[in-house]
Amino acid sequence: MIEIAPSILSADFAKLADQIEKVERAGARILHIDVMDGHFVPNITLGPLIVQSLRPHSGLRFDAHLMIENPERYIEDFARAGADHITVHWEATKHIHRLAQQIKAAGCTAGVAFNPTTPLDGLEFVVQELDFVLLMSVNPGFGGQKLIEAVLPKIGDLRRRLDAWGRRDCLIEVDGGIQAGNIAKVVEVGAEILVAGASVFGREDPVQAYRELCEAACGRSA
Ligand code: DX5
Ligand code: ZN
Repeated sequence: MIEIAPSILSADFAKLADQIEKVERAGARILHIDVMDGHFVPNITLGPLIVQSLRPHSGLRFDAHLMIENPERYIEDFARAGADHITVHWEATKHIHRLAQQIKAAGCTAGVAFNPTTPLDGLEFVVQELDFVLLMSVNPGFGGQKLIEAVLPKIGDLRRRLDAWGRRDCLIEVDGGIQAGNIAKVVEVGAEILVAGASVFGREDPVQAYRELCEAACGRSA
């Protein structure tokens, strides 16, 4: 099943609840929430307080993508705030196995994200703890960038590795530069969750934009 996860990074932060309600009405089931600390990436966005404020306004699964240093310090805060799924960066911790277990112990599903140039080697040692693997298809930090085409074969490589490790159920999430014109080829190589920021909330009508992406991804309306 292909899922499109709208990213609030490109939403109007003065109207977050309203914007989220729109994509929920359009048929989205996952909301991607980009957390940036100004250290791991050059940008700063939001923390657990915003997640907690949004929680009562939405039935969407909250997918917290932590682009922060020392993520182990904040797992419980995001879990308590209402995150359903927490993704941490491979590059941001020395102890990814312990961190994945910490996320699960906090009651969330766990994901690990890889920057575009980070190799997948070593993933086999932690894959049994994971529910998702996120591949960045732009350099993290900003919305509205162009998809890095060199990541496409990496998606296929990851799918083959997951299957070989007996983890057909471990989902591949791809994040960055996804739009109606390229979503089909990203799905084609094995992505199952497609994050979309500028191509949903950056558009005048996010409901229509979400539907167009669904159609382009699966050849059907949401
Ligand atoms: C970038 C973030 C992405 C971002 C994607 O660092 O992780 O989730 O919102 O935005 P678009 O879809 O605009 O590239
Ligand atoms: Zn993201």
